[in-house]
Amino acid sequence: MKVIEADLVISAGRADQFPPGPFPEVALSGRSNVGKSSFINTILARKALARTSQRPGKTQTLNFYKINDRFHFVDVPGYGYAKVSKKERDAWGRLMETYFETREQLRGVVLLVDVRHKPTEDDRMMYDWLKHHEQKVIVVATKADKISKGKQQKQLAVIKRDLDVSPEDPVVLFSSETGLGKDKAWREISDALFG
Ligand code: GTP
Ligand code: MG
Repeated sequence: MKVIEADLVISAGRADQFPPGPFPEVALSGRSNVGKSSFINTILARKALARTSQRPGKTQTLNFYKINDRFHFVDVPGYGYAKVSKKERDAWGRLMETYFETREQLRGVVLLVDVRHKPTEDDRMMYDWLKHHEQKVIVVATKADKISKGKQQKQLAVIKRDLDVSPEDPVVLFSSETGLGKDKAWREISDALFG
């Protein structure tokens, strides 16, 4: 897909700020620092549309991006960041619940995991929770540039097994550094949005 227009619509910290309207949307989920904002920038070919950081916990609001006046990408704050207070974690949980349980425009969720590691307990809970809510999930195993090709294939098998990925959910090997997996990710996202 050629991205002609990509704009931040709103950074929503509360459910009443979620933008109304007819656009179908895909949300990004994954643990803090896994590379969600980088994924958005790579896939949209925008250097710094979504803010990225070495420091985990950068994205703290649901950031809605409108693409080509046709659909939304939603950058969601990451989970599993230890330095967050219980109060903040609870607020995050409530916001996520409201979003994923009530958002009718939502057509699918890109769940990012780090290809170098076994999925964390949080990753497994997130995948199960999304499936419980009957979401289509596109698993993106990112940071592929950080390990050898042989290891990539091994790790993909571990991820599929540990998350117990449903046969209908695709798993895409990806790198924001090299652009590996960009076309496949687009095909899966377009399919979720318009298929
Ligand atoms: P939060 O907003 O905190 O939840 O983080 P995030 O998931 O949005 O992560 P972000 O995109 O900010 O990336 C975190 C760090 O990982 C940054 O330093 C990125 O440059 C780096 N990074 C992300 N994707 C890749 C990748 O595919 N390869 C490599 N080598 N580094 C990556
Ligand atoms: Mg982010």
